[in-house]
Amino acid sequence: MSINWFPGHMAKARREVEENLKKVDVVIEILDARIPDSSHNPMMDEITKHKPRVVVLNKVDMADPKATDRWLSKFRSKGKYPVALDGRHNQIIKKIEPLAVKATADDFNRMEEKGIRRRAIRAMIIGIPNVGKSTVINNIAKKKGAKTGNTPGVTKQQQWIKAGQQMELLDTPGILWPKFEDEATGKKLALTGAIKDTVVPLDEVAIFGMQYLLEWDPERFNAFYNISVSQDDDIVTVFDAIGKSRGMKASGNEINYEAVTNRVIHDIRNGKIGRYTFDKVDTQ
Ligand code: G4P
Repeated sequence: MSINWFPGHMAKARREVEENLKKVDVVIEILDARIPDSSHNPMMDEITKHKPRVVVLNKVDMADPKATDRWLSKFRSKGKYPVALDGRHNQIIKKIEPLAVKATADDFNRMEEKGIRRRAIRAMIIGIPNVGKSTVINNIAKKKGAKTGNTPGVTKQQQWIKAGQQMELLDTPGILWPKFEDEATGKKLALTGAIKDTVVPLDEVAIFGMQYLLEWDPERFNAFYNISVSQDDDIVTVFDAIGKSRGMKASGNEINYEAVTNRVIHDIRNGKIGRYTFDKVDTQ
């Protein structure tokens, strides 16, 4: 589901998150491991204030493993508690819970010193749409297929889910808006499916993806489509090569550029060509 993030929606989303934050000890921020910076809500720090934060780099199965290691180090160096995982796999709570325990240790120790009896750690999940919030929540709750929805402001009865041995998780995630900072960020969000297809022109998204692969992994790109192109080729040549190779013709034997566009986006978005991380650590 796509949402147009008008200022009213943003204000509502922010209010909802702030309301729920009062109930929790720790925030579990879900990011897309392929775009850990672009999938981070720009006001996350301001909104969550000083709450301890576990950072989940989700969809790690589609990200470049070396880049993921670099991102994990970077988050650790900033005092966050990061973990990379595939939210569809069982047992993810075993990776998340120990980090939540570490992240909240100081707060709970202080409470104990004041004589407050230890209770379960309360957590909530926050992230922009389509990063895998529902997948992670349903997985922890052992529910199948319940989509938590991407629209802020749809109130429903909230419940606490037992999450591991020492934790309780709010079953409704906080949904924040994606970055609207610059064109490249928009294209990365579209390429990974974090924003759906109407926001950024699809041909531009496909071109961005092709150029990325031609720069970083030309051999695999060529092998995947059974073509022979390079970074120096005109982008139309690349479209033509893929169209010819895949038999994507429109009437009059012309290349069907729309079909090529959709195919390339689909292949990159779903990790068919390879595992890529589009946000580089060093440029942050
Ligand atoms: P959200 O609540 O944050 O909006 O995201 P959601 O859980 O709905 O996940 C979005 C899509 O990402 C889903 O695909 C889901 O299966 C997929 N997904 C979630 N976690 C992972 C992961 O770790 N690895 C991979 N490869 N995929 C993951 P979908 O049902 O096909 O939805 P869509 O493609 O129609 O959005």
